[in-house]
Amino acid sequence: MTDSKPKLVIVYGTGTNNTRAVAEGIEIGARDEGVDTVLLNVADLEKEEIVAEITGAQGVAIGSPTYNRKPIPAIVTLAEMLNDVDMEGKVCATFGAYGHSGEAPKTLKRVLKPCNMEQMDVLRILGKPSGPTLDECREYGAEIARKMLEK
Ligand SMILES: Cc1cc2nc3c(=O)[nH]c(=O)nc-3n(C[C@H](O)[C@H](O)[C@H](O)COP(=O)(O)O)c2cc1C
Repeated sequence: MTDSKPKLVIVYGTGTNNTRAVAEGIEIGARDEGVDTVLLNVADLEKEEIVAEITGAQGVAIGSPTYNRKPIPAIVTLAEMLNDVDMEGKVCATFGAYGHSGEAPKTLKRVLKPCNMEQMDVLRILGKPSGPTLDECREYGAEIARKMLEK
């Protein structure tokens, strides 16, 4: 039988794993809603491989913590690379853990704007998600999935 579920690639950078925990929450929410997911740490793969994975997906969620008011450089580089491939029409989410100002998800959203994807509101989580904030991550994942399934 052919698996016809749409695919969501969730890719993140992290310093101390809080953004990873956000990404894992998003993954659970999205899967429960009925899409396939691929979860990637930007540090584990060549960026070209990540771009290829995203190119074959219907949705992408890109996450970074905020350090010194910026996203981490490897994620910015990846987002810039996505401007050079056809991303039009995919669902796009940006997220990240933060400590006080939390600019990274909005900065990523801006970098990705020229891709003409269907951009969602950003998700920002203070510190490590748990309890209600982990629920927020799952609900965000479910919302991404619903948008993908509507298409
Ligand atoms: C050196 C340093 C700089 C930071 N700069 C910021 C910042 O500019 N704005 C902010 O909201 N949080 C800042 N933080 C807090 C981190 O964003 C926060 O700890 C976040 O949860 C880390 O996520 P991660 O575990 O995914 O790396 C900073 C933390 C450190 C250690």
